[in-house]
Amino acid sequence: MAVIAKHCQNIEIEVVDINKERINSWNNKNIHELPIFEPGLSEIVKNVRGKNLKFSNDVEKAIKTADMIFISVNTPIKRKGIGAGETSDLRWVESCARQISKLSVGHTIVVEKSTLPVKTAKTIKDILDASSPSDLDYKRSFSVLSNPEFLAEGTAIMDLEQPDRVLIGGEDIEAMNQLKDIYLNWVPEHKIICTNLWSSELSKLSANAFLAQRISSINSISAICEVTGADINEVANAVGKDSRIGCKFLKAGPGFGGSCFKKDILNLVYLSKYYGLTEVAKFWESVVRINNWQQNRIYEEIVKRLFGNLVNKKIGILGFAFKENTNDTRESPAIEICSNLINEGAILSIHDYKVPQETISRDLYPLQKDNNKKICWEYHKDVYEAIKGCDAMVLLTEWENYKNLDWGRISLNIKRPFWIFDTRSIIKREQLNDLSLNLWQLGNGNNK
Ligand code: UDX
Repeated sequence: MAVIAKHCQNIEIEVVDINKERINSWNNKNIHELPIFEPGLSEIVKNVRGKNLKFSNDVEKAIKTADMIFISVNTPIKRKGIGAGETSDLRWVESCARQISKLSVGHTIVVEKSTLPVKTAKTIKDILDASSPSDLDYKRSFSVLSNPEFLAEGTAIMDLEQPDRVLIGGEDIEAMNQLKDIYLNWVPEHKIICTNLWSSELSKLSANAFLAQRISSINSISAICEVTGADINEVANAVGKDSRIGCKFLKAGPGFGGSCFKKDILNLVYLSKYYGLTEVAKFWESVVRINNWQQNRIYEEIVKRLFGNLVNKKIGILGFAFKENTNDTRESPAIEICSNLINEGAILSIHDYKVPQETISRDLYPLQKDNNKKICWEYHKDVYEAIKGCDAMVLLTEWENYKNLDWGRISLNIKRPFWIFDTRSIIKREQLNDLSLNLWQLGNGNNK
């Protein structure tokens, strides 16, 4: 919405939420304390906030006065009942639709922005249409559009400013054109694709599934590299040079995290099973299985190299976010790997450039509960403090600064033999020369 506000100064945008605290943070005078960290976002918000972009809790007024409403709520994986663990929990989408149907005035275009299971637009439409009371003294009607978001965290502003494509799905051409006109303010027309509703919803799930599948593919090859003497970066480079394959999204690592990939694949699996497409379901399920396996094998590698015993060993964790340039930890491989290390008896010393201690505490809470609240990790703002006195360190997020650590300084304050587990392959082996530090890198056939 901030980017739309920047490019469409004639459009009044109101971002509403029932969560007062969150809206207050969006209105925070200190522009550097917005609720999410995203490079470039605070500068845009600073320029448009209070002009044509407002943040408020007055949901009712916003619905009553809106010509177009974007539903952008959470759609996490359902925890209980039919489809638990696979399909999305749509309770927030449904409650938005009910509220819109109760309060809207005149013709309202309702846009699905959240990523949703295929056919959700029908649910929204049914709710909107069913609840329109016939005895109102004014008329109202709705058009439902699907306009999935393809931005990635950390590069969100760039992805929005110069999208590969904008996708608009719908049945009402007039409504689709109105949404298209908004994007035309900065996106070239040939990049705006119009489809039917179901193609739009399915394209979003499929795009994420394809991206995740590439990561699982390269991660599976990383394990083969380690046992054959090949090097995953060399293989990825050679494979990616084929223009039919392309070089992006071929970076091996500790597995994909983030709020989208796993959820969207599981939605695809659920959809396939629902329609009896068992083999299709199994195919996509295997992408998630490889992802879990990758995280697990990294943890096993660490235990193996630390003589099968982690009890009372101190391990530095470099990076907790699911990728660089974000403070988001949802589905971060760090959660699973750290939990397993703690279970083995290790004491973790965690550092991240953007993830705050409270978030790590929330993510590791279930484990702490199991351990009778025994403190099994500490948090450090300074990366060198985090590694001090450790038996090993595990690099999990590819923060730029981790590429240039002062290994000489680190080597003065560690326990030996010291192991470095680099799951992102960003440490240069030459930098460790003569320091007697052991390095294990993911996908490297030269690991000793
Ligand atoms: C993803 C999609 O890219 C985006 O289009 C969609 O709108 C939302 O989901 P996001 O989850 O923010 O975006 O980040 P992305 O850059 O896709 O990375 C996802 C995960 O894959 C991260 O954990 C990242 O470390 C990992 N990854 C990515 C790799 O392991 N290797 C790669 O080559 C690329």
